[in-house]
Amino acid sequence: MALTTSFLLLFLTSLTLTVAANTAYPTIPGTDNSDCAVSGELKPVRREIYGEGQIYDISHRYTEDMPSWDKTEGLGQFLWLPASIKNGSLANNSEMKLPTHTGTHVDAPGHVFDHYFDAGFDVDTLDLRVLNGPALLVDVPRDKNITAVVMESIHIPRGVRRVLFRTLNTDRKLMFKKEFDTSYVGFMKDGAKWLVENTDIKLVGIDYLSVAAYDDLLPSHYVFLEGREIILVEGLKLDGVPAGIYSVHCLHLRLLGAEGSPIRCILIK
Ligand SMILES: *[C@@H]1O[C@H](CO)[C@@H](O)[C@H](O)[C@H]1NC(C)=O
Ligand SMILES: *[C@@H]1O[C@H](CO)[C@@H](O)[C@H](O)[C@H]1NC(C)=O
Ligand SMILES: *[C@@H]1O[C@H](CO)[C@@H](O)[C@H](O)[C@H]1NC(C)=O
Repeated sequence: MALTTSFLLLFLTSLTLTVAANTAYPTIPGTDNSDCAVSGELKPVRREIYGEGQIYDISHRYTEDMPSWDKTEGLGQFLWLPASIKNGSLANNSEMKLPTHTGTHVDAPGHVFDHYFDAGFDVDTLDLRVLNGPALLVDVPRDKNITAVVMESIHIPRGVRRVLFRTLNTDRKLMFKKEFDTSYVGFMKDGAKWLVENTDIKLVGIDYLSVAAYDDLLPSHYVFLEGREIILVEGLKLDGVPAGIYSVHCLHLRLLGAEGSPIRCILIK
């Protein structure tokens, strides 16, 4: 438990950007965006792209200002430093509290099906072979939600098992806006149904907090998750990544009993 917790905390601490200092958590070094580092000052490097496109980090950093489902005020404080060297502890030990469907995250079948939840289909049961392997990053038309007509028009070949859908959400930088926006682009029920019936896609990735359009929230989730074969990764960071074929690697946390989890995803060329 302690190990798991420190891992989580380390993980989050290293990802946090532009987190304002507050009484419970002092300024995080290297997040002030100032380029005028005093010579000799320790300054961590934060990257989106490694080695000129060898690796793209497609996970969002966790920040207080990131959007949170149905909230206007954003995620808010989720990280505390109850024990710190400055306050006499041997080491710094942060704690966090985070809704499991925050930022870049994964949905398990128990998210929308109570009987799957009760039967134990939590994130720990998700298939790592679906979450890792060759993947296609595609742009969808910017003027519509993802309907059956849209799905048909983008011609994803049979055999493609993992697709990350880049939409108007990326252009609108919705994941960088504090206020939750219900007008995000997602799958309409008929689009989800078309995908299930006419493609071999098992990993569906999208660039805002839900794969389903707000107006078809539950119907689209039901269609995707009913068969317990398709895995939904939401809140991906797809800006600045050329469309095309990659190897995707997504690893979530083994949160026993949880129907969602933060997930770290990268694309390797
Ligand atoms: C521990 O936390 C303090 C803030 O209380 C910070 O100034 C210091 O750099 C941290 N030390 C380490 C080793 O992270
Ligand atoms: C240290 O403790 C004081 C008093 O409880 C508190 O005000 C302060 O925020 C703490 N600082 C850190 C870095 O934890
Ligand atoms: C997508 O659907 C939402 C409602 O779920 C709507 O507000 C939005 O305008 C639609 N987007 C487009 C591009 O049609």
